[in-house]
Amino acid sequence: VVSPAGMESSQVAVIGSGLIGRSWAMVFAAGGFKVKLYDIAQQQLTGALENIRKQMKELEESGFLKGSLNAEKQLALISICTDLKAAVEGATFIQECTPENLELKKKIFAQLDLIVGDNVILSSSTSCLLPSKLFTGLKHVKQCIVSHPVNPPYFVPLVEIVPHPETDPSTIERTYALMKKIGQSPVKLNREIEGFVLNRLQYAVISEAWRLVGEGVISPTDLDLVMSDGLGMRYAFIGPLETMHLNAEGISNYCERYREGMKLVLNTFGSVPEFSGETEQKISQAMSEKIPVVPKHLNARREWRDECLTGLAKLKKQMSSN
Ligand code: NAI
Repeated sequence: VVSPAGMESSQVAVIGSGLIGRSWAMVFAAGGFKVKLYDIAQQQLTGALENIRKQMKELEESGFLKGSLNAEKQLALISICTDLKAAVEGATFIQECTPENLELKKKIFAQLDLIVGDNVILSSSTSCLLPSKLFTGLKHVKQCIVSHPVNPPYFVPLVEIVPHPETDPSTIERTYALMKKIGQSPVKLNREIEGFVLNRLQYAVISEAWRLVGEGVISPTDLDLVMSDGLGMRYAFIGPLETMHLNAEGISNYCERYREGMKLVLNTFGSVPEFSGETEQKISQAMSEKIPVVPKHLNARREWRDECLTGLAKLKKQMSSN
């Protein structure tokens, strides 16, 4: 077993060079790792590398490039490859970022299973496929894990680490240490569960938002403000549990004061929405008025969101060193 420290001079492979694969490549390069980026199409890879170069230059100019190396040196760490065997040769960690399709991913992990040694970690970026669906039956199942990032991983550091029931504890520890080393913020799930944790929390919020708008309690744009100018302000710094702790004299005092009230409110929650019909129309119309569903407007807003997240990341860093 290679210790986390032993990974220092290591090389990683990123399988799939789309949105998430590019981001992972940048995060690893910022951490000083050599990255081999693999995809099925040469054209896809050339485009990805061009896009990474552009992003890195822009980040460098705005002072937001991560890591201690300059953009040119980070770029030099990334190479592209259309041969799977060559891509994973010498890698101690493989991050799979192909489309969210179980059969496709299973095929890729089966291919990897045949060519890797006993020391490499096989990690998937999957948002919702369970490790037991992805990895069961693989010879190297002990080395398999899900490392679920949040989009865009370069700006939002959380990574959910989700083991297969047969994943070796050392695989979990090594993945955790690696994520820390490259500046991400890993969390460990003790077992797999549908939606992992991030999406379970997200869906709980979306679901109540949908019901409130559907029942006409609040408009779609005001609903979003409740999060962006209300709850979200504190959630960028402290989680819901610490919020409870601070909003009273500790958790027990919070429960004593608010448990009945919380249960009363929670008992008025409705059933799982259909996410279709009139409410869908209403929300779609409101959002499209704000941001028309055309690439120009969507991309401009995404860029603005990423700028905000970059600024927030900087602020969080400042605040934590205070
Ligand atoms: P994408 O569609 O942007 O990229 C997928 C890439 O995989 C493409 O470059 C494609 O050419 C390549 N590909 C297709 N078949 C392949 C094969 N057989 N071998 C190698 N490469 C192949 O998808 P995206 O958004 O980057 O998602 C990748 C994974 O990351 C998915 O599992 C997704 O659920 C997960 N994820 C996505 C997030 C998002 O917000 N987009 C957030 C967190 C995780």
